[in-house]
Amino acid sequence: MNAVDSTMSLDGPARDARFSVVDSWRQCANFPDGDPRKVMEFMHRQMNEEMDAAECSARSLTDFPDAPWDLRMFLARQCADEARHALVFSRMFQRRGGKLGDYPVMNFQYRIITKIPSLAGRLAVQNRTFEAGGIDAIGFGIDDARNLGDGELADFFDAQFADEIMHVRCANEFLHEMLAKDPRLTLDVGTAMRQATRSFEEVFGGEGTAVVKYTISEQGRLEAGFRPEEVAVSSRQAEARRERANR
Ligand SMILES: [Fe+2]
Ligand SMILES: [Fe+2]
Repeated sequence: MNAVDSTMSLDGPARDARFSVVDSWRQCANFPDGDPRKVMEFMHRQMNEEMDAAECSARSLTDFPDAPWDLRMFLARQCADEARHALVFSRMFQRRGGKLGDYPVMNFQYRIITKIPSLAGRLAVQNRTFEAGGIDAIGFGIDDARNLGDGELADFFDAQFADEIMHVRCANEFLHEMLAKDPRLTLDVGTAMRQATRSFEEVFGGEGTAVVKYTISEQGRLEAGFRPEEVAVSSRQAEARRERANR
C-alpha cells in the first residue's frame, strides 16, 4: 500500500490508488455460496479489515499517550499481530491469482473506532465487540474451510483464532481494571457502544443480518474472558439474529 490515494474519504485511513473504498456492505462484491470468487473476495476484504484493526490500535497508541505502559505494550503487540494477519491474507490471496484492489473494501471499522473519544470505549467496541464477533466468525471459518478442503486457510484461521482470543481477553482484563478504578467510565463505554451500533447498522443495513449464518463460539468467548452469563446472552442474541435472517 504505497502512495496515498487523494480520493480517500476524509475520515478514513489512507489507501493507495489500487483500492476502491466503499461505504456500505451493499456496495461490496457479495458472491453467492459456491462461487469460487467468494473465498477470494473474503480474503481480500479480510486483509483490509486486519489492516484497519492494526491502524485502530496504532491510533489508540498515539491518541492516548498517557495510558499505562502495559496497556500501551498490549496495543503495540496487537498492531504487530493484526499487521501479520493482513500480510498472510495478502500473500494467500495473491498466491491464488488475486490482484490487490480486485474488489471494493470498507473502512467502517477505522471510522467507527477512531471517532470514540475514550480508550475504554475503544477497547469495548474494537476488541470486546468487533473482535469478539471475529472469534465467532473464525470459529465457524475453521470448520467451513476444512469442509471445503481448504487446509491452508483452515490452518491459518486456527493460528489467528488464538491471537484474536488474546486480543479480546487482554481488553476484557484492562476494561475490568479501568472500570473498577473509575466506575464513571461505564458511561463512556455505554455511549461508545450505542454510537457504534448505530454506525454499524448504517453500514450493513438490513442486509447485514443475512450474512450471519453461524452462531457464537462459546468456547472461544469463554477463553477470551467473557463470563458464562455474558456468553449465554450473546448466544441468545445470535440465535435471534439468525431467526430474523431466515424469516
Ligand atoms: Fe486480526
Ligand atoms: Fe485482533
